[in-house]
Amino acid sequence: MTPSAPSITTPLIDIREVRKEYDDGPPALVDLSLTVAAGEALAVLGPSGSGKSTLLNLIAGLDRPTGGTVTVDGVRVDRLGETASARYRRERIGMVFQFFNLLDDLTVTDNVLLPAQLVGAGRLQARARAAELLEHLGIARHAQAYPGRLSGGERQRVAVARALMNRPALLLADEPTGALDTASGAEVRELINELNDEGQTILLVTHDLALAGACATRTVELVDGRIARDTPGTRRTRGGSAVAR
Ligand SMILES: Nc1ncnc2c1ncn2[C@@H]1O[C@H](COP(=O)(O)OP(=O)(O)OP(=O)(O)O)[C@@H](O)[C@H]1O
Ligand SMILES: [Mg+2]
Repeated sequence: MTPSAPSITTPLIDIREVRKEYDDGPPALVDLSLTVAAGEALAVLGPSGSGKSTLLNLIAGLDRPTGGTVTVDGVRVDRLGETASARYRRERIGMVFQFFNLLDDLTVTDNVLLPAQLVGAGRLQARARAAELLEHLGIARHAQAYPGRLSGGERQRVAVARALMNRPALLLADEPTGALDTASGAEVRELINELNDEGQTILLVTHDLALAGACATRTVELVDGRIARDTPGTRRTRGGSAVAR
């Protein structure tokens, strides 16, 4: 795809009139429509309770909308049963969390290899991919270490490597800098920028305005389950494709 190509491609994320109601209280999302093109780095901001995690869960297929449709990478995520939904996540989505969610009794390499094992990828190929990712993310020297010995920033790099293992169409991140000190937060921002420059589509939910400001090509702000603002970021994607996909 060249930068001058007409924008007739289908969006990577296509959310149409999604509504999410829980048993009690007002709806968490109200007729929300949103499209995200491949290559965007979208930051979702908004006050506590505005529906950010709910939106992320619907995109990840971890929950189903009460109404409306969620299509990601051509998959009608809102219609998937449990098995298909788990498979969709393994094959197309990478997820990064605030508290890393690494397995402490596995080495860094074995943590990164997990998603490949879940999809039954070939051993040698998976090992090569893991080594390439660790090298690319600057943590190759910790390949045989256990996560407990790493700094927060290094742990988050391992979590990102694991998320990228199966070359996901979409990288989802929920407060990826939420548990990090200033320096590690800056490292992770840089990493997110690099990945997006390589063409990785990223959707991150955050309260961290420095993160959104530095990394987002577009910012969507939720208020009471609705999109209150949708603004272009100051960053621009360079496109291309390297290790991320
Ligand atoms: N499992 C649930 N059952 C009932 N209500 C829920 C559930 N999950 C979320 N909600 C409600 O839906 C609304 C949106 O919640 P959500 O977690 O999406 O907000 P958020 O923007 O992620 O907030 P925060 O910034 O605090 O993480 C809130 O009113 C919340 O109480
Ligand atoms: Mg939340």
